[in-house]
Amino acid sequence: DIDNLQGVVTGTLTIAVVTTAQYFLPLLLAAFTQRHPQVEVKLEIGNRDTVHARLRDNSDDFYLFSQIPTGVEVLESPFLTNELVVVAPERHELAQQENISLARLSHYPFILREAGSGTREAAINLFNFHGFKLNEKMTIASSEAIKQAVSAGLGLSILSRYSVDFGLVPGIKILPVEHFPIKNKWRLVQRSSRKPSLTAKAFQQFMLDNGAKILAKAKKDITSTNSTLPLLY
Ligand code: PGA
Repeated sequence: DIDNLQGVVTGTLTIAVVTTAQYFLPLLLAAFTQRHPQVEVKLEIGNRDTVHARLRDNSDDFYLFSQIPTGVEVLESPFLTNELVVVAPERHELAQQENISLARLSHYPFILREAGSGTREAAINLFNFHGFKLNEKMTIASSEAIKQAVSAGLGLSILSRYSVDFGLVPGIKILPVEHFPIKNKWRLVQRSSRKPSLTAKAFQQFMLDNGAKILAKAKKDITSTNSTLPLLY
């Protein structure tokens, strides 16, 4: 079992992930490198278009994103559900409402991610599909800065639930909106043509065997203590 090869797995592992995964991947890498201390990890983070471009260029051992691009042969395993949610400042007039309709939401200013972001595309598509238009007041190319902007009262936004739960920013709240959360699956992806190293195989097995478990526990710890992530070491 490759998972038991503690200390034997060495070398560099390069991974490129979408920004929505930046909230949980470091925790999983901490657990993986604890098991395989001789592995060196290089992690790239970008929006969907950026990560797709790296996949086309065959830059990395692994990629993590939701939508497989056409024209590239890949091996992929579904990995966790990415839920997109509507966030608002806690003091917003919608913050105490239940069952908010898309029609109602479309009147409020939104801060959206940049072009090339899968989160942006999914949000716009959902509104369009139901015959509404998002009132985009501002575009910000960072989920972190968007949370700060929402907290400061600049508008509402649509973000991955992980960026809210694992990247706590005080003063923001998830709204109960019809047709939300938007559900997608993140996928752990490799180029079919790239021969995986032992390190890559160990990483894949670790992610698929332990990833969801570690994150479910971390989520429980955060919710129960209402604090930041527990220390692994
Ligand atoms: P992104 O993430 O918004 O950073 O492009 C998209 C995804 O989760 O696939």
